[in-house]
Amino acid sequence: MKDKEIEKLMRRERERQAKAVNLIASENIVSADVLAALGSELTNKYAEGYPGKRYYGGNEIIDEVESLCQKRALDLFKLKPTAWAVNVQPLSGSPANLAVYSALVPIGGKILGMSLASGGHLTHGQKVSFTGKAWKGISYGLDKKTERINYDDLLTQAMIDKPHIIVAGFTAYPRKIDFKKFRNIADLSGAILLVDMSHFAGLVAGGAYPSPFPYADVVTTTVHKTLRGPRAAIIFSKRDERGFSEKIDKAVFPGLQGGPHMNAIAGVAVALGEANTPAFKAYAKQVIKNAQTLAAELKKRGWRIISGGTDSHLILVDVWENGSGISGKEASERLEKEGIIVNKNAIPFDTRSPFDPSGIRLGTAAETTKGAKEKDMVKLAGRIDGCLRK
Ligand SMILES: Cc1ncc(COP(=O)(O)O)c(C=O)c1O
Repeated sequence: MKDKEIEKLMRRERERQAKAVNLIASENIVSADVLAALGSELTNKYAEGYPGKRYYGGNEIIDEVESLCQKRALDLFKLKPTAWAVNVQPLSGSPANLAVYSALVPIGGKILGMSLASGGHLTHGQKVSFTGKAWKGISYGLDKKTERINYDDLLTQAMIDKPHIIVAGFTAYPRKIDFKKFRNIADLSGAILLVDMSHFAGLVAGGAYPSPFPYADVVTTTVHKTLRGPRAAIIFSKRDERGFSEKIDKAVFPGLQGGPHMNAIAGVAVALGEANTPAFKAYAKQVIKNAQTLAAELKKRGWRIISGGTDSHLILVDVWENGSGISGKEASERLEKEGIIVNKNAIPFDTRSPFDPSGIRLGTAAETTKGAKEKDMVKLAGRIDGCLRK
């Protein structure tokens, strides 16, 4: 590289990533092929529009790249192109969710999503996000005792609020979601059901977590978490008389975006191809085994695990324990000094501030990609425990 300053920073970051134990639940490590696609000449091309309908010339090969990416997305989740449409152009997860609302929910309409404190995402209608300014965000919480979604309470709330759209999906909720129950609640309250599977898409692809596709109207996902691809997002929508897919395509382009990032879309295609293999299935199962082992080992050492465990790649640990422990911020700083990277996180019904909450969030996708197995999680639990108790 001619730019020595950036080259040096890239090298330092590469070395940091190689040395650190990465327990950030939303991160992963992409393959050399994904990196090659991202660093390719495809970044030079403007391709506003969709395959076969572009505003610029020279898009013959680009059309093939995008069509292949669409096909791989449908194939991976076993979706028929006659039943589901797919848009692979969203630049990332937040713009993907914004595109869905702008296509399907009238401005000022109601979005019912999981509250931030319970593990929902900002783009599920939170006030600080544009999704909570242009639309009216309403939140559902968790059952205080089980720290899980209470579907009876959710139904009651949906029947009172009558939202336009209900969002199922999370950024910090460790359990399975009952998509069938969400479908029923959406039907009874007359809402569209959006599943944001950003966190668990790789687990669904690997057959290790329930699929939302039999129940959802629309599914969004980032590609860069458990799915192990580049930073990008995908929107799937059911093809029916409501015409969601046409509205969503228009919302993405020209509604919210200009030219798609074709190098990223090629990287997405590569990642989707990689995810449709027996090796990826084994990885997805191992991600969950590792998370369950880590949760059980921490529990054995006296740490309170939110909801008592995990069904996914994600664990929430209450490190504050009503003042008998340390804060989430201190925990994440102590761990970082030991080379273990986590993030501080609110826990359900947290009494502390989001800037220094009671919990930490751990995820096992990146370490599983590096080859970690259960025995490594046992050791890791010992290191984490030692570090948080000293
Ligand atoms: C559930 C969920 N949706 C959407 C997003 C937003 O994705 P991005 O950061 O790519 O905008 C995230 C990111 O953490 C997420 O967890």
